[in-house]
Amino acid sequence: MKILGIETSCDETGASVVEDGNKILSNVISTSLELHAKTGGIIPEVASRQQIKFILPVIEKALQNAKIKMDEIDGIAVTYGPGLIGPLLIGVETAKTLSYVFKKRLIPVNHLIGHIYANWLEQEKEIKFPSLALIVSGGHTDLVLLKNHNKLEWLGGTRDDAAGEAFDKIGRLLGLPYPAGPKIEELGKLGNPKKFNFPKPMIGSGDFDFSFSGLKTAAAREIQNIEELNENVIADVCASLQQTIVDILVRKTVKASQKFHVKSILLSGGVAANQKLRDELSLEIENCSPRVEAGKLKIDLFAPPKKFCTDNAAMIAAAGYYNNDDVSWHNLTANPQLYFD
Ligand code: KG4
Ligand code: ZN
Repeated sequence: MKILGIETSCDETGASVVEDGNKILSNVISTSLELHAKTGGIIPEVASRQQIKFILPVIEKALQNAKIKMDEIDGIAVTYGPGLIGPLLIGVETAKTLSYVFKKRLIPVNHLIGHIYANWLEQEKEIKFPSLALIVSGGHTDLVLLKNHNKLEWLGGTRDDAAGEAFDKIGRLLGLPYPAGPKIEELGKLGNPKKFNFPKPMIGSGDFDFSFSGLKTAAAREIQNIEELNENVIADVCASLQQTIVDILVRKTVKASQKFHVKSILLSGGVAANQKLRDELSLEIENCSPRVEAGKLKIDLFAPPKKFCTDNAAMIAAAGYYNNDDVSWHNLTANPQLYFD
């Protein structure tokens, strides 16, 4: 089954054709990130205008690259939330129009569930249920239990800022370009992760919630007190900040994996591109997960290739394939506040 995925929830305009939720026939992304880097964050109106400019050429290119015509598509999967209302509307209304004109099934996809399904793209290994997904992006930090496809249970999430937001906001204080996550990872490699002792709010709380806003306040205070913010000090702040965020994410994820006896963990979202998070989670799972037989781990850790961690349409097509409840175009509306049911 060939699904056309469309993603326009924020600053990326994506279209992709994916076969059977796994094989990527094309994946086209156009981004307005450079424009937002200039302003240090996303201006919704600017993002919307760029979406309008890119949406049709991006879809056309995705079909061309997949060497397929609209007639041969089995369904259209589109992100309908959460996200920015302007950009979301452009993807949703385009998908509705295509569905009406070409008489194609229309599958609404929650952007966050889309991030989780990046793990199925080009994946040869079987992902076993129950599975635990950690979604860490610029807007969200959530732990979700997947009992099966279409059977999701939200376990907890951030009460304030998202993990990616903490990277971006503190990066801004350090004068780093938006989005700061990748740069903080790069600079952090040269710094001392123990130099600054940032707070780890809620790390020991009994639930699966997170809180990252206090981290920004603490970092702002530390940065103000630094006499000379030179390269070495910036590297130390980056390394310490990254370590703090990774420690919090790893602790809660491992705790949830034990409580729900999961067979796999799925990392997803932009922050999942962070190598330190991947390495430390993998190490901790190895140390904590019970072994079935010598050398064989009970819990498999999956993390999508880095290019599929950030927003893209292939993950939306994959999610549409596995969670394929279609709707009539009359009944689909963009929902910027969409969360988990
Ligand atoms: O999933 P995504 O592309 O967009 C949202 O839906 O938010 O995530 C973007 C976020 C940004 O906050 C960015 O700083 C962060 O992911 N990010 C990273 C890394 N790459 C992207 N954070 C830490 N380390 C990285 N390597
Ligand atoms: Zn995203």
